[in-house]
Amino acid sequence: MSYPVSKPERKAPLLFEPITLRGVTARNRIVVSPMCQFSSVDGGPTDWHLVNSGKYAIAGAGVVFTEETAVEARGRKTHECAGLYSNSHIAGYRRITEFVRARGAVPAIQLGHAGRKASCDSPWNLFRPLIESDLARGLAPWTCVSASAVPAPREGSPVPVALSVSEIGAVIGSWREAARRSVDAGFDICEIHGAHGYLMHQFLSPLANRRTDAYGGDLRGRMRFALEVVEAVRTVWPHDRPLFFRVSAMDGPGGMWSLEDTVELSRELVQRGVDVITCSSGGIGGPMSTEVVPRVPGYHVPYCERVRRETGARTCAVGLITEPHHAEQILQSGQADLIALARELLYDPHWPVHAANALGLPGYLDVLPREFSWWLKRREQLRTLTADQ
Ligand SMILES: Cc1cc2nc3c(=O)[nH]c(=O)nc-3n(C[C@H](O)[C@H](O)[C@H](O)COP(=O)(O)O)c2cc1C
Repeated sequence: MSYPVSKPERKAPLLFEPITLRGVTARNRIVVSPMCQFSSVDGGPTDWHLVNSGKYAIAGAGVVFTEETAVEARGRKTHECAGLYSNSHIAGYRRITEFVRARGAVPAIQLGHAGRKASCDSPWNLFRPLIESDLARGLAPWTCVSASAVPAPREGSPVPVALSVSEIGAVIGSWREAARRSVDAGFDICEIHGAHGYLMHQFLSPLANRRTDAYGGDLRGRMRFALEVVEAVRTVWPHDRPLFFRVSAMDGPGGMWSLEDTVELSRELVQRGVDVITCSSGGIGGPMSTEVVPRVPGYHVPYCERVRRETGARTCAVGLITEPHHAEQILQSGQADLIALARELLYDPHWPVHAANALGLPGYLDVLPREFSWWLKRREQLRTLTADQ
């Protein structure tokens, strides 16, 4: 795919223009998308998380998300998943946020709950649902909860327990408490994970929500859990800090959650203080590897554009965005306000400086800290001299 190449006389690329969301300014529009590391111990972060997030802050990203972080212990996908369900977790995350901020990036957290997709083995063991015999390996299975007693459509998935109305209230309270701990831990952006077939998506989609009470039925009923979580989080999440929401803009194969539903949900979210909608897709009808939409570069961008145009929300684009000119074109055309990358950053953590170079940002090496750029600028001079001879 080819993208318009920036002309030399044009002003600095938008990708490297700072963006201000409420009281928080990111130095550029590059977002490290949340990426589960499956390296937590009892929910808490380790040195791995510090080095991993710290690496992206050093490399010049504007916003550094950690990973989906469970608001309850039973809301983790695996025993190794991150959580912020205890005050004892706060200090570990604070170490990360302080380092990320000191390196000029905005520290961000994504709060989630796996619902019926909890109690699984690690990705290296293909997320196999845990069974009693896994106890011998120290991996005890636990009871999953969901909107309804409908198991995830994969072999061996247990039937989850449908949450009662009072239990829903308690889960919403856990979300609020995790948001409060996120403030104490020093995060400046909080994203609520409403996508990928996890608990919130299980409430949104009729594929998993068969309730006949106030939390089910029509769109309004199915959105209620998500909206109440947002309202609860906003009571503790500071007014001057932005709130993001990640939505699966469309369900998995055979899905019943449509883009129209996403637009409607986004309108309600904006009214309740959500600033940025991250558009993703799928996850409810099968594993995340199941294709919902053709995996072409920027496959969620049209969803971002529509949500942005029809709701006034800012949007964050994610999904196979790897080319700097493509990222720039998404921003320039007003389809999204932020560009999130996941796998490309696993491959090339220094993508920001490579993108700055490709887009012709003057002094592009300054994307890096002086511990790197001082030497690299001199290497550049040397190269120019050698080339001139
Ligand atoms: C290792 C890994 C872990 C991920 N963990 C999360 C997560 O915690 N929360 C989330 O919303 N998405 C998660 N994702 C999805 C990514 O954030 C992103 O939406 C997806 O990979 C598409 O972007 P990409 O093409 O740039 O990789 C993960 C992806 C990868 C590769």
